[in-house]
Amino acid sequence: MKVSAIIPAAGSGQRFGEVKQFKLLAGRPLLFHALKPFLQSDYIDEVVVVVPQENVEFFHRDVVSMSAGKPVKVVAGGSHRQNSVKHGVNASDSDSTLVCIHDAARPFVTEDLIQNSISACENVDGAVVAIISKDTVKYSENGLVKETINREKIWLAQTPQTFNKQKLLLALDNAHKNQLTGTDESTLMEAMGYSIKLVDGHPNNFKITTQDDWMRAEAVAHQLTDSRSGRFKEVHDD
Ligand code: CTP
Ligand code: MG
Repeated sequence: MKVSAIIPAAGSGQRFGEVKQFKLLAGRPLLFHALKPFLQSDYIDEVVVVVPQENVEFFHRDVVSMSAGKPVKVVAGGSHRQNSVKHGVNASDSDSTLVCIHDAARPFVTEDLIQNSISACENVDGAVVAIISKDTVKYSENGLVKETINREKIWLAQTPQTFNKQKLLLALDNAHKNQLTGTDESTLMEAMGYSIKLVDGHPNNFKITTQDDWMRAEAVAHQLTDSRSGRFKEVHDD
């Protein structure tokens, strides 16, 4: 079984106020932190990074220099996240049967999370790293509460999200034909009726969406940085 990692990093950072994936966090581009565990993981056979068209060339040089021999590709993204993911999946090795998709904007992913999302795919069509809601969740319309949802059944999706590649390609085609837009790929797989498993994520594996998230990321980076290697230590629950 071959696994291709797809790292979508072609967004424009509307909510952040600027392109965020190349901004320096703890002295390295945000994308570097998200990418490193995939380059190091024994579970990943190749890495496809999706960046804005104008960054393909310079980023290709950078990523090859840090890849330590693992096959890497850099391709141009599209207007929406799912187009970027599609470009990445289309560029992946024809032998790969699973794709493991991870946001460039989640710098604290670990090799354990990657491994768990891949291993969980054995008898299902995909697996999504997620954390259970700690807050009580209200469903509202027009500012008024309509109902309270049982929080024991509410999971907040993160990435990595790992899928059967052929089924993901069918789901992406279906989304295109039916003008479906999902904020993650699992949504598109669910629309096809495919079975998706949840895998325990980690609170530190949050996505940097706004400037507040950047401040949180700086604090976490400070706490996790190994003073000798300058790299983040792996995060474990125990
Ligand atoms: N992404 C992408 N191609 C797009 C849009 C998003 O590859 N056309 C990537 C982003 O670079 C990011 C991930 O998808 O790594 C998650 O997206 P998000 O946090 O929404 O980033 P942006 O789309 O850049 O931010 P915004 O939605 O605020 O514009
Ligand atoms: Mg976006």
